Amino acid sequence: MSEMTTTTAAGAEPDPLEVRDGRSAKTYRLPITKAGVEGDEAVRGMDLRQIKIADGDFGLMSYDPAFMNTASCKSAITFIDGDKGILRYRGYPIEELADGATFLEVAWLLRSGELPSQPEYDQWVHDITYHTYVHENIKRFLEGFRYDAHPMSMLCSSVAALSSFYPQSKDIFDAERRNVSIIRLLAKLPTIAAFCYRHGKGLPFIYPDNDLPYTENFLSMVARMSESRYEANPVFARALEVLFILHADHEQNCSTNAVRAVGSSHVDPFSAVAAGIAALYGPLHGGANEEVLRMIGEIGHPKNIPAFIDGVKSGKGNRLMGFGHRVYKSYDPRAKIVKRLADEVFEQVGIDKDLEIALELERIALSDDYFISRKLYPNVDFYTGLIYRSMAFPNDFFTVLFAVARTAGWLAQWEEMLLDKEQKIARPRQLYVGSGEREYRSMLRS
Ligand code: CMC
Repeated sequence: MSEMTTTTAAGAEPDPLEVRDGRSAKTYRLPITKAGVEGDEAVRGMDLRQIKIADGDFGLMSYDPAFMNTASCKSAITFIDGDKGILRYRGYPIEELADGATFLEVAWLLRSGELPSQPEYDQWVHDITYHTYVHENIKRFLEGFRYDAHPMSMLCSSVAALSSFYPQSKDIFDAERRNVSIIRLLAKLPTIAAFCYRHGKGLPFIYPDNDLPYTENFLSMVARMSESRYEANPVFARALEVLFILHADHEQNCSTNAVRAVGSSHVDPFSAVAAGIAALYGPLHGGANEEVLRMIGEIGHPKNIPAFIDGVKSGKGNRLMGFGHRVYKSYDPRAKIVKRLADEVFEQVGIDKDLEIALELERIALSDDYFISRKLYPNVDFYTGLIYRSMAFPNDFFTVLFAVARTAGWLAQWEEMLLDKEQKIARPRQLYVGSGEREYRSMLRS
């Protein structure tokens, strides 16, 4: 790119951005890329590098901690419009997918871009079902954890360990090898997740029952005792399926960015997904639904709610967990779906004190001007924790359920990154703010 270069494709692109550098009084015209049907617009960070005062200068960089306004990729997978409360996978509204699709159908859609035909779907389900078993050494590996190990630590390290069982998975540019790795990860995540649960409870591991569909099989590995076949409550099984669909992808969130960044080194996908699990483990990312239940526990009784809300509003207490969202400012489309699901699940298990507290918190927050004026609506995490708890999952397992679902999105995004000719190893720049050069004089006793 040279100074005064104009836009690329004639007519197709918007007028360039004109930037005048006050230091040199030079004007630069930076092409604006308009992407996709939604027309997102951006200038390329690299185009700033031509802006310099002297020939030997490095050139201007952009500074954007936490990627607040930087697109790291072009992606055709997930679209979010936070102001309008829109979430679509490959163009399909989340509401329609939650209503009619299966999780594995969505996993295929995320990866391939199109809904599967019946033969494609049958083969996909068959392949994933065929790969649900894990090597017996993974079982022994899990047994090495303490009884109270956090299941996310166990999940993260077991998925990283899987990489050593499949050395061929390093061949990431072989389409067939990549396909098998993706199938293995989708197939084995529920098995390992369920084994983590059983280990925490001191219960024997239950092997996959490959006659069962994906979520029913997962529930069987979690809950089966002495019965020869576990029959999941159909309301719970469908609720879990829908929650998996809602959590399957959310464009360039923290863990997806981790998978893409780690994967950009061309490491195998097991290692890249383990990095995603590590990112998801953080309380600012996957842990909010656990926080909702902790908050409800602290409130303790419906009579304490007014004092709690006063504390939130005065800023002296904690935030109302499960409310507000960085992206969604009118409503979180996932929360609407989850609310409906929650009603169905609560109908099965009945309402207890904690649910009463949650429903009362929601009622007050939706009618209180503090929350209305700040556009603080319930987010997906307000209800998911309550549903998982009603299904008897322990609090520290909620993020594991999120990880099982998000694996579908991570893998689709990982493969998109690998096949994107514009991508290279992710390696940001920095603004160095440390010492200038100084002479080494040892402070150690000689
Ligand atoms: N309770 C009380 N006040 C809040 C809350 C809340 N949950 N969230 C934001 N506010 C207030 C905040 O104090 C500020 O008020 P003021 O203008 O008077 O200073 C105003 O609303 C704007 O807040 P912000 O921090 O600028 O908003 P943000 O977009 O940076 O934060 C958020 C988004 C999700 C981090 C925040 O709303 C929050 O902490 N929510 C609770 C935690 C939570 O539920 N997280 C799960 C997010 S959904 C899962 C996912 O998709 O990743």
